[in-house]
Amino acid sequence: MRTIQTKKELKAFLAPFREQGKSVGFVPTMGALHQGHLHLVDCAARDNDIVVASVFVNPVQFNNPGDLAKYPRDLEGDTKKLAVHHVDYIFAPSVEEMYPKEVKKSYDFGLVDKVMEGKYRPGHFNGVAVVVHRLFNIVEPDKAYFGEKDFQQLAVIRKLVEQEQIPVNVIGCETIREADGLAMSSRNQRLTPHERKEAPFIYATLKNAVELSKNQTVAEVKRYVLEKLDETNIKTEYFEIVDSHTLQPIKSWSESEHPRGCIAAYLGNVRLIDNIAF
Ligand code: PAJ
Repeated sequence: MRTIQTKKELKAFLAPFREQGKSVGFVPTMGALHQGHLHLVDCAARDNDIVVASVFVNPVQFNNPGDLAKYPRDLEGDTKKLAVHHVDYIFAPSVEEMYPKEVKKSYDFGLVDKVMEGKYRPGHFNGVAVVVHRLFNIVEPDKAYFGEKDFQQLAVIRKLVEQEQIPVNVIGCETIREADGLAMSSRNQRLTPHERKEAPFIYATLKNAVELSKNQTVAEVKRYVLEKLDETNIKTEYFEIVDSHTLQPIKSWSESEHPRGCIAAYLGNVRLIDNIAF
């Protein structure tokens, strides 16, 4: 395993593999790695000859400067974690390397990024698309791996790839959870012990909602989730039941073959997201 900081060097290392017809799997991350990220790495290793993982805290996707400053960074710890999985190259560029000039690119993803995360974090998905597009151009992977944990992000990446005609196969991987159900996230580190105890209630409520959906309307299920979480210290920012492909909210179960419940909620100043299939 080798850590590389520049685009030029990474391209030079990957070129011979490509000439030999070897497949390249790519896992983009912002570091502070946990089992969720490592699961993506394992999926990439299962499917490809060469695995590249990037570790880059992408400033252009943070709409809140405080959030960017607080984002955990630990390249040394991340390197140790990746070393015991099958990773060939860690790409850890500097901000100047990724953004030598001011970023002007603005994508139009239609309705997919106008709701939920896109509504509450304006500019966020544009920043994600900017960095992922650049990373795809550098790594030129055959397959790229993203977690369902960030369900709307996965939909935006699929849209980016389709619109920009990028020759990469986007693979969505299941959400990895703690034993108590809390979706793994780099942000979980910032929960106080008391908040950490309350946090699994988010997923527990989503699971109950799926049970209720067997005989309740969309509106009733939505009300249930909001009311249940309101009884705790968890402050729900949004809970929407959307179609998995369009990401648009549905009003009745018959409107979607694959409804998905997506939530964002605060525990103290930590913002958590999760989702579940209905
Ligand atoms: P980051 O939050 O570091 O996540 C990197 C990848 O890990 C994403 O695809 C995310 O969905 C996945 N992931 C995070 N937690 C997971 C979990 N519990 N189970 C499964 N997968 C999980 O998402 C980003 O970084 C950035 O937006 C990025 C795509 C790297 C662009 O900067």
